[in-house]
Amino acid sequence: MPSQLLRKKSIDKLIADAASPGHQLRKSLGPWSLTALGIGAIIGTGIFILTGTAAAGEVLEVHSILKAPLIDAVLHGAKALGTAGRPGAGPGIALSFLLVAIACALAGLCYAELASMIPIAGSAYTYAYATLGEIVAWIIGWDLILEYAVSNMAVAVGFSAYVDSLLRGFGIELPRRMMEPIFAGGKYTGAYFNVPGFLIVMVLTVILVIGIRESASANNVMVCVKITAILVFIFAASRFIHTANWKPFMPNGWQGVLTGGAIVFFTYIGFDSVSTAAEECKNPQKDVPFGIITSLVICATLYITVALVLTGVQHWQTLRNAAPVANALVALGLPNVMKWVSIGALTGMVSSLLVFQMGQARVWFAMSRDGLLPQVFSKVHSHFRTPHVSTCAAGLFVAIPAGIFDIGTLADLSNIGTLFAFVLVALGVLVLRRTQPERRRSFRTPWVPVVPILAIVSCMILMASLPVETWVRFLVWLVIGLSIYIAYSRHHSEFGRAPRTPATGGTVSAQ
Ligand code: ALA
Repeated sequence: MPSQLLRKKSIDKLIADAASPGHQLRKSLGPWSLTALGIGAIIGTGIFILTGTAAAGEVLEVHSILKAPLIDAVLHGAKALGTAGRPGAGPGIALSFLLVAIACALAGLCYAELASMIPIAGSAYTYAYATLGEIVAWIIGWDLILEYAVSNMAVAVGFSAYVDSLLRGFGIELPRRMMEPIFAGGKYTGAYFNVPGFLIVMVLTVILVIGIRESASANNVMVCVKITAILVFIFAASRFIHTANWKPFMPNGWQGVLTGGAIVFFTYIGFDSVSTAAEECKNPQKDVPFGIITSLVICATLYITVALVLTGVQHWQTLRNAAPVANALVALGLPNVMKWVSIGALTGMVSSLLVFQMGQARVWFAMSRDGLLPQVFSKVHSHFRTPHVSTCAAGLFVAIPAGIFDIGTLADLSNIGTLFAFVLVALGVLVLRRTQPERRRSFRTPWVPVVPILAIVSCMILMASLPVETWVRFLVWLVIGLSIYIAYSRHHSEFGRAPRTPATGGTVSAQ
């Protein structure tokens, strides 16, 4: 058993498995489709909502150590109780966006190397299976489900709220009980079901089952629309900037900037999903690194500009509301611009949901192909050549909770899961450079080991800036995952089923 936990799949075996009949996905994506896929996932709800929260900070009614950032609780102990909430970054949120982009770029360079070496579905999960062993692969796969599922539940709930407010802007009032979550903040709200949140995920599930090429085309259109909406906001609002609003630039110092960074990290989640589509690329060795880095650079530029404009037109303390970008436009006397930007925001949410649902299904698919989840999840549709069972299962897994719960606050949970995945990917680069230095890498992470080590350190700093309760929830999620691994997956994985093969250096070569 202990040796099984550390067994690693050989990279050749992983690539051969992916090419086995009945398990092949259609290869139809090029570099710009991948970049659009990345932007589609990256720009979602976050930039339109969390920029305000992070700039203004959060004030909570309850004083609890669970609400304090972990780093605060560790450094100040009981004194952290005094901080009921998180300090705002102020205009310094632009700096938070920049720093988080750098952290993501460092992790992205590591992702790109592994994606170009192991160009198959599953992303960090697959890389971990090849580098760190079965148990770490399981943990990371389980963790990726958290990243994709929880963030999509949050985005679907946000989508519903935005549809509601936009329709009301046009004078259309829908029944409240069909538009709101059944539980909010742990309390029963009296609502029946959040129908738009549920429906949007199910519609996208059907699109994803029909085909990756069709989905990519739909995504390209949505990406253009949401970039246009952001540019419209920037150009329309920038005329109203008062530089006095930028002073002081960092009202709560570096603590505010870091805490803001841990919140807006959510806005960058998604660039890693480019690597989950590696198996469906025409030329993964070149296209995946290109897609990751290009989408990250484009989004960082847009985010920093939005942050500067938003904090320039409104004082940062006024930005603590559900729709800071839309509300700023109304306050500037631009209600029609607000409507167009809101439509763009909704489009952004749809494309983000689409890519995350796709990434999530691919992780289920890859874990099932390896025996860690039931085999049915790795079935490929005979006509559409898409993993239809895992796509539908992932759809229901997200859509139902999105109809029931108010999970906006769980963005933090999604952040911690993603940051943890980034740490393991960077570790994977370090391990493979030592264990398989000869293997061909069409993309090599520059300045190894400096870049992976900086990626690990920066991700850990951001993790430490998240509240204690997020850490507790994360650990609970991992414990549930480990229980499933012990009860099911370890018996069904390839290494659990196969007769013991003497392993060399912990690696089973199955060529
Ligand atoms: N990055 C995605 C968003 O901001 C998750 O909604």
